[in-house]
Amino acid sequence: MCRYLFLVLSVLAIAGCGGERDDTVVTPQAVTTEQPDHFLKFLNERSINDEVYTEAYSQAYYAAVDPNDERTTLDDWKAANDFHLCSPEDPDHTLVKVVFRDTKDLGYGRNMTACSHSDGRVAVFVNNYVVKVFPGDPSNYGPLNLDAAILENSEHLAGTNAIEFSPVDGSGSAQMAAKFYTFNPLGRRIISADLDGRGKKPMPQPCLLCHGARLMPLEEDGSVPDVSLYSAKMNQLEVDTFEYSAAYNGFRRSQQEEGLRQINSFVRDTFAQADSHCEANRTPACWYGDFAMEVADGRYGGAIDTPGSTYDESFVPAGWQESIDRPAGVSVLYTRVVQPHCIACHSLRGTYIGEVRAAADADTDGSAINFESYESFIGYSDLIVDYVYHRGVMPLSLRNYEKFWADRDGAPAILAGFLPGFDRYDDQGKVMVPGLPVSKPGGDRIVTTTSAVPLSAEASLYARDFLWEVIDTPPGASAAIASPESEVTSFDADMDGDYTVRLTTSNLRGDDAHDFVITVDNALNSLAKSQGDLRFDVDIAPLMRAPADGVNQVCTSCHDPGNATYQGIPVAYTSDADVYTNVLARIDLDEPENSILLRKPTRMQHGGGVVIDTDTADGWLVYNRFMNWIRAGAPCGTDATICAP
Ligand code: HEC
Ligand code: HEC
Ligand code: HEC
Repeated sequence: MCRYLFLVLSVLAIAGCGGERDDTVVTPQAVTTEQPDHFLKFLNERSINDEVYTEAYSQAYYAAVDPNDERTTLDDWKAANDFHLCSPEDPDHTLVKVVFRDTKDLGYGRNMTACSHSDGRVAVFVNNYVVKVFPGDPSNYGPLNLDAAILENSEHLAGTNAIEFSPVDGSGSAQMAAKFYTFNPLGRRIISADLDGRGKKPMPQPCLLCHGARLMPLEEDGSVPDVSLYSAKMNQLEVDTFEYSAAYNGFRRSQQEEGLRQINSFVRDTFAQADSHCEANRTPACWYGDFAMEVADGRYGGAIDTPGSTYDESFVPAGWQESIDRPAGVSVLYTRVVQPHCIACHSLRGTYIGEVRAAADADTDGSAINFESYESFIGYSDLIVDYVYHRGVMPLSLRNYEKFWADRDGAPAILAGFLPGFDRYDDQGKVMVPGLPVSKPGGDRIVTTTSAVPLSAEASLYARDFLWEVIDTPPGASAAIASPESEVTSFDADMDGDYTVRLTTSNLRGDDAHDFVITVDNALNSLAKSQGDLRFDVDIAPLMRAPADGVNQVCTSCHDPGNATYQGIPVAYTSDADVYTNVLARIDLDEPENSILLRKPTRMQHGGGVVIDTDTADGWLVYNRFMNWIRAGAPCGTDATICAP
């Protein structure tokens, strides 16, 4: 039979027999070889990838979640999760099993077993099946995998992913953590995995990125910070995006629907538990599940717990419904772009602190990006342009990314239509695929010296060639770029004033120019010391902790674990021992402007609102001091309490 041949024959068989199913492998047009492997890695905190994507991190993680080595094999993991108690009929230990192919994510055939215990614990393991037609071939992620999952063909078992939502052993706390495991086909726990065919990454870091966690560097004592341990979540199954078997009785969508609903209701329950723990305890890993629960419930017409309810992907949350205050078409933006390409990850992200949740303007105030409403989404339009269209890094997983770009007139065009000032259209009026050069020399800046001002184009994207030019100077002044065709160079001027500098980058597909202004002001020693001289201990920490012109509230007035109003704030700057590490983890050395350390306090999407207003002269100076310090590599200094605790 044709389907059986699938398992043993080559790609030719797929072409011949795959007709009744949508084989969704698309040409990865946007994924060029010049593009770095940035999927499943952090972006705006890129500097921490080096610290977090290491085996030491994996080891610390498993030491935390499995301190007594009770889960080093799949069988032991099942025992630790009391699977022996689970059965489909037992309301206290309910077992559910489903099989489908995940066409949206990694394309695997998935054979999934879940057990929900009445004490709130939930455990799910998924046997993933991949039929490797040719190593590295995209068809490996095709429909054959579903057949293998249904037949539980051990020859094609790629491994088992598992999540356990339970208290951390030995922590003495009832707080539940979602803990991530991967087992190889022999059932042994492994600490690195290749999740998208682009190479191995240490576990469980890439899992955490898709599952809503904040990954922060290890603590001084080598342990995983609580914020990373407790911020991960389970994920709703998007029932309409899966592929079901038409041929095998028992595996059609109608026959899997009830099991999928049950698992979704288990997962929804983990959201409710995390939410109420957050409400009661306000820890830095705090996450309010309002939006994730609204979506989960809404997709089942409000009856996710009712047997027989079916999944309805046309649900549009309140924050995305058409209204006179919103531009026409927001619900289409949701159903065509945000739901299929963003919210699986983004409904699990975001923090709220204290009263921000109750505030009338919770949509624009505070919180990391979570896409709960059109307003909170569009508040990030500049970053969306940058991440989706310039860098080409969102959606953050390879398969989702390919689907997003499969039809330029589809999702990319719909989303672009909502982004103010969007201009990446080609001559035919079509949205341009990432891969064009983007010049990123950094923004306007003030410097206090006329000689050897450092310039860096390293943040530029897809750039092969570089050209720096001084295109405007104060009357009578002259200025020069030391080596105009280098990625990193410097600038010299002969008097104070504003100089406009242009960076043009190019590659085989085109070029891009970006202008910025360097203001030279020798008189400004107090706040904008020359870059190389700025140190964290004497120049930066005081700005965060003591009143200064241009900072309307010191950072530590809120970023203080002792402040009850802001209890659970995701980062504190009060303790000398970790203030420098906490700051460093929020800096992007590759692209200083993209450092969340400054992106937060300079814009509305910050729980503290605009704390440094760059439209005022003083605020602009403060911003420059931070930036010049980051551009110089963010050195600490010599104060032993802060720099060598
Ligand atoms: C590209 C994003 C992505 C990555 C990477 C990822 N997951 Fe998931 N995971 C999902 C999504 C989305 C779901 C919901 C079901 C689905 O679409 O398959 C899910 C579901 C699951 C489930 C079923 C329980 C639930 O939450 O619904 C388990 C178990 C799981 N993932 C474990 C892992 C482990 C372990 C890793 C790392 C090895 C991992 N995942 C990596 C996106 C991801
Ligand atoms: C596979 C998971 C995933 C998908 C899918 C995804 N994102 Fe993200 N996104 C993330 C993660 C994780 C971060 C945080 C990155 C970091 O902190 O470095 C993020 C950050 C962002 C940011 C930056 C926010 C900030 O404050 O720095 C923007 C903008 C963004 N995503 C837009 C989108 C859009 C638009 C889509 C859909 C077209 C999308 N993302 C789809 C995982 C995802
Ligand atoms: C009025 C209170 C308040 C002040 C003042 C304040 N913040 Fe915040 N900040 C918050 C809240 C609340 C959050 C958490 C919600 C969010 O992510 O926006 C936050 C989040 C952040 C984050 C994200 C941290 C993370 O890991 O997610 C950074 C970075 C940050 N603030 C930097 C600063 C800096 C730098 C200053 C001083 C220049 C400052 N903040 C001043 C209230 C404040």
